[in-house]
Amino acid sequence: MSVAISTTSPIIIAHRGASGYRPEHTLAAYELAIALGADYIEPDLVSTKDGVLIARHENEISETTDVASHAEFARRQTTKIIDGESKTGWFTEDFTLAELKTLLAKERIPQMRRHSPPQASQNTAYDGLLEIPTLQEIIDLVKLKSAEINRAIGIYPETKHPTYFKSIGFALEAPLLATLTANGYHGANAPVFIQSFEVSNLQDLSTKTDLPLVQLLNNIGKPYDFVVSGDERTYADLVTASGLEEIAKYAQAVGVHKNLLVPRDSSGKLLLPTSLVIYAHAADLLVHVWTFRNEDCFLPLDFQGNPQGEYELFFSLGIDGVFSDYPDTACAVKENL
Ligand code: G3P
Ligand code: CA
Repeated sequence: MSVAISTTSPIIIAHRGASGYRPEHTLAAYELAIALGADYIEPDLVSTKDGVLIARHENEISETTDVASHAEFARRQTTKIIDGESKTGWFTEDFTLAELKTLLAKERIPQMRRHSPPQASQNTAYDGLLEIPTLQEIIDLVKLKSAEINRAIGIYPETKHPTYFKSIGFALEAPLLATLTANGYHGANAPVFIQSFEVSNLQDLSTKTDLPLVQLLNNIGKPYDFVVSGDERTYADLVTASGLEEIAKYAQAVGVHKNLLVPRDSSGKLLLPTSLVIYAHAADLLVHVWTFRNEDCFLPLDFQGNPQGEYELFFSLGIDGVFSDYPDTACAVKENL
């Protein structure tokens, strides 16, 4: 890729595509996100049985595909322990890419995002119509659309369950870097952010690539590689000033749960902002925040019916980007800053 992304902060990252309007992690969701003004599109990545990176939020795919209705795959249903949790279903690593291409995506939350005119959400109307895309197909789409609209769109891939995939011989990092390199992405200014909820795979990636890396930070729990290694630190330890300074040794940004910036009380009402942005910027880390959604059930009490107000609050804190299911809403607020 010869053109660095030309956007101003905060960047708008389409979370799993424009997933408020299309089934997540489909080319249709990514294409719409680009049309709606997103700066980056976000594929979560898992591996197939033949080592191909595909976009799914989990390696267990019954929630977001029609795999359960494929009689030929009925015997592939199984139970596995993924990141310490028992999961029953169908797993991407048990299917070749050719087999996965016979499946079709469906909406994850159809009760909320059903096709019901005149509402804008049309997600369930696309159930059974869209394939699972590969990382390469997503990059091809990004290149095509960037050329069409003369604007460099970035990609923001996440390694999902990296310790697990490494343990079964399908480490995600090597094919990810190989694919990015083969497609011309290189250097610190490339329109790419590689993200992970784990720490050790990012530390290892930092020795192998100059592409920007993002440490994801949840508001509960700890990185799963810390569970495996016996590291006692939690995400709460990583968001301290000293924790952020440690992250800055191998990453260029943090991707944080929004409650870490503006906590909520038990009723869902917002409390005062924390110092996370100040500490992160002091450590020379960008701050990208997840996940912004328009539906009231995801919004704090303070902004019911007003998702724009939530963006305005977070933008006022000086953040550098947002992950949004509704990139059009995010872009509209950004334009009025
Ligand atoms: O990757 C950051 C953001 O996407 C939140 O995580 O669970 O939606 O992949 P998740
Ligand atoms: Ca993600």
